[in-house]
Parts: sequence; structure tokens; C-alpha cells
Amino acid sequence: MCNESAPTPRGITLSFLCLLINGPLNAPLMSTTFQLDTSTSRANPTPRPRKRLTVPRIRDHKKDGQTKDPLVMLTAYTARQAQLLDTHCDMLLVGDSLGQVIYGLDSTLPVTPEMMIAHGAAVVRGSYHSVVVVDMPFGSYEGSKELAFETASQIMAKTGCAAVKLEGGQAMAETVAFLSQRGIPVMGHVGLTPQAVNVLGGYAARGRSQHEHDKIIADGQALEQAGAFSIVVEGVIEPIAIALTKSLEIPVIGIGASAQCDGQVLVTEDMLGMFERVPRFVKRYENIAEVIDKTVATYAEEVRARSFPSEEQTYQPKS
Ligand code: KIV
Repeated sequence: MCNESAPTPRGITLSFLCLLINGPLNAPLMSTTFQLDTSTSRANPTPRPRKRLTVPRIRDHKKDGQTKDPLVMLTAYTARQAQLLDTHCDMLLVGDSLGQVIYGLDSTLPVTPEMMIAHGAAVVRGSYHSVVVVDMPFGSYEGSKELAFETASQIMAKTGCAAVKLEGGQAMAETVAFLSQRGIPVMGHVGLTPQAVNVLGGYAARGRSQHEHDKIIADGQALEQAGAFSIVVEGVIEPIAIALTKSLEIPVIGIGASAQCDGQVLVTEDMLGMFERVPRFVKRYENIAEVIDKTVATYAEEVRARSFPSEEQTYQPKS
């Protein structure tokens, strides 16, 4: 089995290398699922090949309870998006937020493992450097630890990702232990857990009561003890995010939490300004929706005026 994680030189696809190593009979098993074929893809120029970070390196980024340089994580759902984000990030999250961002669904609940696998494989193909983490969607892991293993192993085998993420704290600790003892690195997710929106009653910040405060801290600690390599803490009041970050040895990645966390994650489309409505904790760094609107208006105008395509964009008979 050719399980190459280091980048191959431009134009040499993994399947070609595997063909050399395994011979033609084994070749059909080795598709280019995990590697962008730069000779056929529109996605040239090739992203600068760099050695990929690993889960243990992310875990060890926090030393003796301290993180010097915060970890940078963003969501990615497509190969080209992954290419653009990869050099700037330590981790790329193929979040189940793709349900809303890509598919226009009103929550993450209808997202399926097949959707996560298709987008996860695209993001792995588009990245060289970041650790790619893929979300386990609602209903694909909560039923039993065996179900969780089945889903997580399929996600990892079919995408080439380095880790999975699942929501829930103490209730998921046994599952996290089961997975991590069987070769599946797990990132936890506590605080506001969008898959539990019907239990929580909405997307408001968590941790305003002592009971919630204690539960979020206990959830994080249970996940660490179970073997999670990192956790996301989402939508909690800042003192909880700080207390959780201080109390754990593993990196705590914040979203709507605190700059004191060991790293930050945002939904890329939110920070780029693709949507009118975003949660309060999102900082819009750009207004890409406006750029697209203006650009497409110009295109539409030129098409209607028959000024596009011009001579430059048309083929003429050779004289
Ligand atoms: O699905 C997602 O994008 C997430 C992040 C918001 C943490 O879980």
C-alpha cells in the first residue's frame, strides 16, 4: 500500500508513483483521491509543496499548558479554497457548516457522511501543509462507539484526512477513547454545539449559569482524559474559554470564545464577507460578496452590450 503523505513534485501524481511501486495490477486501487493531478486540474500553479503537519505536532504545540504561537484554523470545503488557505493555516476544518454555507440548508442536521467525504477528499487534494480535520455529521456517531468507528474510519480512508471532529463532552468521552485507541485522532467540540440546536433551543452563547459553566469545563476535561488531541470551544462567555484553556494540556481552539485560547477557527465564508448575516463573534475581514456582485454586474452588462467576448477572447481562422 502506498500511503504517501509528503508532496510529490509538480505533475507527478501519486497514482503514477504507486504504479511504479506496485505495478499495473495494483494501480486501479490507487486513485488520485488524495492528490491533485496538476497536469489536468485548473488549479495550477501548484501550491508550494511543504511537508504536512501532523496531529502529534498540533498536540505538542501546547507545552506545559502554554501556547506561544496560537494555532490558525479555518474551514475549507473545496480544493481551490484549501489551496488558497493552506499556507496560512495550521489546520483546515471540513466543517459540517458546509450544510449551510455550501448547500443552503438551515442547520447542520441534514448533513450526511457522503457530503463530508466528498468535500473532505477535495480539501485534502488541495492542501499540502495543514492538518485536515473532517466533521462527523449528526447521527453518524452518537448511537454507539462502534457506529462512530465505522463512520470515522470511512471518512479517514476515503478522504485521507488526519483527524475527525465530533460534538459533545462527557457523553462522548467513551467514544473518543474508543476511536483514539484504534488509530483515529479526535478533536472534541464543546460549549455551543450546533448539532444539539434542538436541545439547546438556539445558537445563543453558553455558560451564563454556574451549572453550564461547570458542565463545559467538565466536558473539556473528560475529552482530554479520553484522548482527544485538541478541542474546539464555541460560543461561550470569555471567562469559561480562558478557564478551559488554562485547565487543559491539549490545545483549545476558540470560536466565539477568547483570544486567550490556544488557537482560533472561523468559517472562512463568514470572515471573507460572503453572507449578510453572521454571528456577532465573526470579524468580517473583507466584503467578497460585494466584489462578486460588482464583477458579475460588469460581466452581465458586457454580455448584453455584445462587448464580451472581444477579439482577445475569440478564436479566428489562421491566415
Ligand atoms: O462546522 C464547523 O464549521 C465548525 C466550526 C464552526 C467550529 O464546527
